[in-house]
Amino acid sequence: MAKKPASPAGGAPRINIGISEQDRAAIAKGLSRLLADTYTLYLTTHNFHWNVTGPMFNTLHLMFMGQYTELWNAVDPIAERVRSLGHTAPGSYAQFGKLTSLPDAPAEPPRALDMVRVLVTGHEAVARTARELFPLADKAGDEPTADLLTQRLTVHEQTAWMLRSLLEE
Ligand SMILES: [Fe+2]
Repeated sequence: MAKKPASPAGGAPRINIGISEQDRAAIAKGLSRLLADTYTLYLTTHNFHWNVTGPMFNTLHLMFMGQYTELWNAVDPIAERVRSLGHTAPGSYAQFGKLTSLPDAPAEPPRALDMVRVLVTGHEAVARTARELFPLADKAGDEPTADLLTQRLTVHEQTAWMLRSLLEE
């Protein structure tokens, strides 16, 4: 039988990527909030894709599909960054409900343009959550998180602008 390599602590070695334990914990917490916001906005957008009515049906139904697909693809890299920092990614409705800064999707479907208003404020709220975390990621030298936040900010601010344009005369 092969001899096991010596491993005094047993199991995996401690994470040692050059970011302090305290900073990793704080960044993971911020990313968990961003994950909860993104997931909540994803669900609301998919809900609106299903329930939109009125003369703008086709435009909004398709626009919402593009948006919920983008949000769905975004949750994975956010959650996996939390894991790379050594923390557990939240992944339940109960956890997301506690962590998110966004309200749950309305129980009764709003009118088409009110859906657009809900999504503008949603994208802006997610942008604020991402922006709030940026100085910490920057200070800790956490480039992958800073890069992820930059990408998410670009998408949320651009989507908010596009949705907002639908509401302007
Ligand atoms: Fe669909």
